Amino acid sequence: MILDIPAVLTPAQLAEARALLAAAEWVDGKTTAGHQATKVKDNLQIPATHPAARQVGEMILRALAQNPLFIAAALPLHILPPMFNRYTGGQQFGSHVDGSIRQVPGTGHRIRTDLSCTLFFADPADYDGGELVIEDTYGAKNVKLPAGHLVLYPATSLHHVTPVTRGARMCSFFWIQSMIRDDGKRALLFDLDQGIQRVGATQPDNPAVVQLTGVYHNLLRQWAEM
Ligand code: NI
Repeated sequence: MILDIPAVLTPAQLAEARALLAAAEWVDGKTTAGHQATKVKDNLQIPATHPAARQVGEMILRALAQNPLFIAAALPLHILPPMFNRYTGGQQFGSHVDGSIRQVPGTGHRIRTDLSCTLFFADPADYDGGELVIEDTYGAKNVKLPAGHLVLYPATSLHHVTPVTRGARMCSFFWIQSMIRDDGKRALLFDLDQGIQRVGATQPDNPAVVQLTGVYHNLLRQWAEM
């Protein structure tokens, strides 16, 4: 499932984040790439230990913790600290699959990357190119979202970022270990959750809402890994 989560950050948060990131020092993105990705990666990143990365990262994680659509779709168990990248002057990132296991910086803890996230900071009108192209079962999907929106997609997908030929593309990217490892099961739970919400909104006293909520939780109980 590839999902657009709109308005993760408010306009005020976006402005604050952009100012902090613009003032940070950016380094070659190859420093955090694995062997395979190094050959195709051409962008800039902020070092994970940089105060701006930590500050904006915490802002993103706080916003996501209060976002019901994100929680329902990702069913997160662990979220890696958000990282930041910038593409300009023809920079791009060729086709690759994200690494399956990542160490949480500064800890011995490792997480399995079930879901990849990209949060867009730049207005799409302010740059050309820079589309995130995700290979899905039914073909490629081109993603270029409004500032403040986030795309959630299976980390198993091949993906690439097309060259940025005008302006600058600035994003946050990070990974999630979900309580539900399987993308198909997670999509099924998400559909069930959204259906229950829709019935509940129009028929709050319908006993089927309680029954279906029971089904949701009993499936989650069977499938969740903690
Ligand atoms: Ni990637």
